[in-house]
Amino acid sequence: MPSLSLLKNRNILVTGGAGYIGSHTSRQLVNAGCNVVVVDNFYSGHRWAVPKEALLIEGDAGDLELIASLLSEHHIEAVVHFAGHIVVPESVTDPLKYHRNNTCCSLNLIAACTRSGVHNFVFSSSAAVYGIPSTIPVAETAPTSPINPYGRSKLMTEWMLEDTANSFISVPEVATQPQDRFRYVALRYFNVAGASQDGLLGQATPNASHLIKVACEAACGRRESVAIFGTDYPTPDGTCIRDYIHVDDLAQAHLLALAHLFAGGSSEILNCGYGTGFSVREILAAVKEVSGVNFSIIETERRLGDPPALTSDPHRLKELFAWQPTLQDIRQICKTAYKWEKTGLMN
Ligand code: UD1
Repeated sequence: MPSLSLLKNRNILVTGGAGYIGSHTSRQLVNAGCNVVVVDNFYSGHRWAVPKEALLIEGDAGDLELIASLLSEHHIEAVVHFAGHIVVPESVTDPLKYHRNNTCCSLNLIAACTRSGVHNFVFSSSAAVYGIPSTIPVAETAPTSPINPYGRSKLMTEWMLEDTANSFISVPEVATQPQDRFRYVALRYFNVAGASQDGLLGQATPNASHLIKVACEAACGRRESVAIFGTDYPTPDGTCIRDYIHVDDLAQAHLLALAHLFAGGSSEILNCGYGTGFSVREILAAVKEVSGVNFSIIETERRLGDPPALTSDPHRLKELFAWQPTLQDIRQICKTAYKWEKTGLMN
């Protein structure tokens, strides 16, 4: 198991650190003793979300010259790459936006790292790379076959990372120690939800389309109703099943991934979920229960690009990193999300 003490005094660049998952992770990194530099273009992030101990630079993760100069100026030892677009339906209607901002930006960022000798890279990948898996829970060894441009942009970045890592392995005389080689951990997120328990951080993405966020907005009276996108899926109650993971448990996985790389660990691709699925109807019932608000629900057509059921097999993350999630209770996830929606800083 990688020790988090390896993170103390490390210089870490976090792209998208003003966003939802990036801000929770940046806070945990600061608490672990890291010197954090956040790069964010504020497309969907917020200044208030960045810990005050971090250095905040407004800029683009795909700006090769900017990133290369930050890497050298701040003696960066690892990059954690969150920046990117995440709205699946939008990726279907505007695919090049996703390839420009996810695939191409990642390419430039990886190029800046190799040029500057930064060899530790943690990437926000997605369960969307699996598409519609033939069996669930899905393990990392399952074939990848994304069904939307968002998932394809994530998979292409995984491939670039793999090819880059392999290029170092193929020239062993140049890279004799593991630390001399470019290595990465790609974390395949399932459905990230919830907010920090102290109520200081949470999801504030404008026009967010995530189910729990949308339901909490309805519970707070900011939406008239919640639409269920499809009730004719081949699932027990006809609605899609997902594996919801609390954002702070997910953030913890990033710290463990960094510690693994600093210890000389090999490149890894790891699922991040709990392995338990909830249907859309079950989630809406949970949000109603924790909020005490009986908001309206309407049943509508299926949304483009949605697989019927997606749950993770998280064994590898648990075994390799001794990841110990503490916030699995779905009511607790919905409770923190609702508290944030009601009283959070974005109000
Ligand atoms: C998708 C990605 C995930 C990514 C996330 C980011 C896939 C398989 N997963 O998750 O990797 O991190 O987007 O945005 O592509 N729903 C409703 N009504 C709503 C909102 C959602 O019924 O108002 C349903 C959706 O149809 C889906 C489920 O709730 O079945 C979850 O949707 P959402 O929260 O948007 O996440 P995913 O699309 O599963």
